[in-house]
Amino acid sequence: MTGFFITVEGGDGAGKTTHLKFIHEWLQNRKVKVLLSREPGGTEIGESIRELLLHGRRRITDETELLLMFAARMENIEQLIRPAIARGDCVLCDRFTDASYAYQGGGRGISNVRISQLEQWVHGDLQPDLTIVLDVPIETAMKRTLDRGEASDRFERESRDFKNAVRQSYIDRAERFPDRIKVIDASKSIEEVESSVETVLLDFYTDWQIDNAKT
Ligand code: TYD
Repeated sequence: MTGFFITVEGGDGAGKTTHLKFIHEWLQNRKVKVLLSREPGGTEIGESIRELLLHGRRRITDETELLLMFAARMENIEQLIRPAIARGDCVLCDRFTDASYAYQGGGRGISNVRISQLEQWVHGDLQPDLTIVLDVPIETAMKRTLDRGEASDRFERESRDFKNAVRQSYIDRAERFPDRIKVIDASKSIEEVESSVETVLLDFYTDWQIDNAKT
C-alpha cells in the first residue's frame, strides 16, 4: 500500500482549522492512519522558523521569507512527509508549496519561475495527491480573523491588496492543476462546506482505493 498526501490551503480566516479537523476525523473513521503536519512548521526546526516568520520583530527581505519557507519545508519533507508516505500512511498538511506561490508569489510579487526553481530542488518528485483550497472573499475572512480575537501575525496584518492577490493566486493555481487542486466555497455554513469537502474526499479516496487494488 502506498500512502497519500493531502494539503489544505486558503487565505487567513478561511476556516482551515475547523475543516482540517473534519478531514482528519473523516480519514480516521475509514481507518486511515494520518500524520498531521503544518507549514511553516511541523518539525522542531520548522517550528522555530515559523516563529521567526510569523512573529519575528526584525524586517526580512521577501526573498529571505521565501527561502525560510522552503528551509522549513525541506525538514518537514525529509523528517515527516516522506517517511510517513513510505510507511503507507496518509499525510495531512496544513499548507504546503501552493502557499508559497500564493503568499510569496502573489502577495509579495516574487516570480513564479524563482519559486518553481526552489520547488524543483526541494521536492521535484513529490507533490500533494490532493489539495483543498478553502476560498472566501477577503471581507469575510478578515471579519472571521477579527472575531477570533487572536493576536495577528505578520501575514494577517497585510493589506487588502495582498490578501486579494493571495486569493487570486490560489484560484489561478487551481485552474492550472484542476486534477489536484479543488476549490471549495468556504463562505457558506460549516455544514455546507463540510458536505463539499466530503464529496471531494470521497472521490479522491475511492480512486485511491481502486488504484491500490490494481497494484
Ligand atoms: P496559518 O496557516 O494561517 O496558521 P494559523 O491558522 O495557525 O494562523 O499561518 C501560516 C502563515 O504562513 C499564513 O499566513 C500563510 C503563511 N505562509 C506563507 O506565506 N508561505 C508559505 O509557503 C506557507 C506554508 C505559509
